[in-house]
Amino acid sequence: MSQRDQTRETHWQSVYGRRPADEVSWYQLHPDTSLSLIRSCQLEKNAALIDVGAGASVLVDHLLDDGYLDVTVLDIAKAALDLSRRRLGARADQVRWQVADVTDYLPDRSYDLWHDRAVLHFLTEPEQRAAYRVALEQALEPCGHLVVGTFAMDGPTKCSGLEIVQYDAAKLLDLLGPEFVLREEQKEAHVTPTGAVQQFAWFVLQRAGV
Ligand SMILES: C[S@@+](CC[C@H](N)C(=O)[O-])C[C@H]1O[C@@H](n2cnc3c(N)ncnc32)[C@H](O)[C@@H]1O
Repeated sequence: MSQRDQTRETHWQSVYGRRPADEVSWYQLHPDTSLSLIRSCQLEKNAALIDVGAGASVLVDHLLDDGYLDVTVLDIAKAALDLSRRRLGARADQVRWQVADVTDYLPDRSYDLWHDRAVLHFLTEPEQRAAYRVALEQALEPCGHLVVGTFAMDGPTKCSGLEIVQYDAAKLLDLLGPEFVLREEQKEAHVTPTGAVQQFAWFVLQRAGV
């Protein structure tokens, strides 16, 4: 792991170590947009789903409630995954947990759906984004779906004290390349626990078949 990766890991470990999960700015009690976009992909219940940079999000709880049988949760911060495991109790055994930096992630299997809420936008360097795309391409099945939420072009420029990159569809498609087709796009005004409003842009894309 490079020094920069270590700094990134240290940052996120300390975020989850010092603040309750429901007080971070990205906290959602109901991840409604993620759920409705994932449901719109009309996957079988045995489809393989991965939530990349999941943090301590309750999305995994809802995916299990929906009956999905093959859910992987990945984050750079073990502390975040530990919070989710504790919250889920015995149900945590139904989930695959992976502590990894998505920019040097070597997927050990493939997925039908890749979900990312507010992770890609932290990758401010071209080589980080290229590495993200490599991990995505290694992980996602042909015809697989990608559900991504980032800060929108009229959203914040920082999150958790870190610079971010805002996205619209053209910018995201430029990053992902012609193998991905945009299926759906929507905006969401996220209200943080302190009442601030953050504009998110959401995208559903599908990878081409072989
Ligand atoms: C703004 S939070 C969003 C968390 C979650 N997706 C949600 O919606 O509640 C960003 C998350 O990405 C994780 N993260 C940041 N950089 C990462 C990386 N390079 N690889 C994997 N996870 C990362 C952080 O630990 C944090 O949990």
